[in-house]
This record gives sequence, structure tokens and C-alpha cells, in this order.
Amino acid sequence: MTDHLESVALVMARPTRLLQLFVNLLRNALEAVNDGTGTGTVRVRTHTGEAGSVVIEIGDDGPGIAPEHMQHVFDPFFSTKRSTGGTGVGLTICRRIVNDVGGRLGLASRPGAGTTVTVTLPGHRVEPEPPPGSDGTPTRQ
Ligand SMILES: Nc1ncnc2c1ncn2[C@@H]1O[C@H](COP(=O)(O)OP(=O)(O)O)[C@@H](O)[C@H]1O
Ligand SMILES: [Mg+2]
Repeated sequence: MTDHLESVALVMARPTRLLQLFVNLLRNALEAVNDGTGTGTVRVRTHTGEAGSVVIEIGDDGPGIAPEHMQHVFDPFFSTKRSTGGTGVGLTICRRIVNDVGGRLGLASRPGAGTTVTVTLPGHRVEPEPPPGSDGTPTRQ
């Protein structure tokens, strides 16, 4: 697992929901690279996107997603991992969590080369505290 983490804006969301989001995405990436050879790589990157958004990418060099499966991966209960306990609800939940906070969840895959999931969340602008006496209320000299 490698990472390239840039400092990004704060995000307004329930921590438990974000945890659920990243556990699901990291689990998928780890399951994808887990072919028994121990040579797979999962990359996590963060950077600032358009309009101060927070972009988190989780990439793996697993088998990728077959083109005919691509349009179904967000469907509830779609899973190619039934035999190993896949429930097919992971990405459905992830998309819901991201949409609920006004973000986007994107998925790109090249069969044989791997998959990259991109989470884009609105950055939360923290207004700086105004210095005392500069709040617009007139003060007597
Ligand atoms: N990183 C990934 N690499 C390859 N396929 C993936 C990846 N993430 C998701 N998928 C595909 O999307 C399907 C749905 O994922 P998900 O909703 O998390 O369900 P589950 O992991 O229980 O199968 C998976 O069964 C798999 O076919
Ligand atoms: Mg999953």
C-alpha cells in the first residue's frame, strides 16, 4: 500500500459514514489485489480539486472490472464475489454516502490493469475569526 497525501480542506460529514465509505472502498481494493502472490499494490492519493473540493483516489492493480460489469457495479446486490462472501452492497452504500454530502463517486477500470475509485467531496471553507472590533458594529472613539 502506498500513499501520496496532500493536505486538503475539511469535509462536513458524519465520521462514521466516512469510515464506512473508506472501509468499503479499501476492502474492494484489497480483495482485488489479493491473488495469493502478495505482490499487489493499493495506492491512496488525496489532492485539492475544482472549487476547493477534496479528492481522494484509491487505486489498485488488480484484475479490473469487465466492461459488461461496469454498468452494474453500483446496483444493489450485484457481486462477482458471491462465492467468497460478497454481498454486493458495498458500492451501493458508498455512492449513497457520497451523494448525501453533495459529492461524487467515480470509478475507472482497465481490465487486466486495475481499478481507480475517485471520491470528490465538497471542501468546507472555514471563515477566519474576525479580529475584535471589526465586525461592522460602530464603536465609539
Ligand atoms: N477494486 C475493484 N476491482 C475489481 N472489481 C471491483 C472493485 N471494486 C468493486 N468491484 C466489482 O464491483 C462489484 C460490487 O462491489 P461491492 O458493491 O463492493 O460488492 P462486493 O464487494 O460485496 O462484491 C464487485 O463484486 C466487483 O465485481
Ligand atoms: Mg465490496
